[in-house]
Amino acid sequence: MPQPIIAPSVLAADFANLEREIQMINESDADWIHIDIMDGVFVPNISFGIPVTAAIHKHAKKPLDVHLMIVQPERYLEAFKQAGASTITVHYEACSHLHRTIQEIKSLGCQAGVAINPHTQISLLENIIRDIDLVCVMAVNPGFGGQKFIERTYEKTRALKSMIDSSESYARIEIDGGVNLQNAPALRQAGADVLVAGNFVFRAPDPKSVITQLKNS
Ligand code: DX5
Ligand code: ZN
Repeated sequence: MPQPIIAPSVLAADFANLEREIQMINESDADWIHIDIMDGVFVPNISFGIPVTAAIHKHAKKPLDVHLMIVQPERYLEAFKQAGASTITVHYEACSHLHRTIQEIKSLGCQAGVAINPHTQISLLENIIRDIDLVCVMAVNPGFGGQKFIERTYEKTRALKSMIDSSESYARIEIDGGVNLQNAPALRQAGADVLVAGNFVFRAPDPKSVITQLKNS
């Protein structure tokens, strides 16, 4: 099994020292930088937006994995591309015309991801799975870092893995929310390719070593 892609979530970083936090990620074994955008409408919290993403991009030596937890994400795709996004992930639950939105992300030259909330069935992705680069399986209800991992995520991950394997899809499976060293090995076994971790990385005494340990999970 190849090593997982590790994407620390900046939502748990020290916002007053973002440059230092990005530097830490640059020097670590992390592969991507996960950027959580929340609008206070799709989710009950507001994080940060386009100027902060662009500022992070200025210092980042790793690709930005932008997770849009916003309504009408199609209105902001171009702006996040300009701000430095490599991957843009939109929520299944926030898109009436998901196929069109995915095509728009791809036409900007970004990788296209679709995130699903804990209540959303994997089977709803059947008609879109060949068109996307990534599925982000939410292992918590989106809106906040530091929440408890929902155990049913293992089963959903296995179902998604088998859908991907039985179709001509090349989509990666990303797990977002409550990821730690306890659940990482089982998530890998279930088919996860990308592990997002916020609090588990940034609240650790030695974040770089935690990233390395996740990478070896
Ligand atoms: C939750 C966000 C996550 C969050 C993960 O809405 O999408 O990316 O930052 O944080 P932890 O790892 O602390 O659950
Ligand atoms: Zn996220």
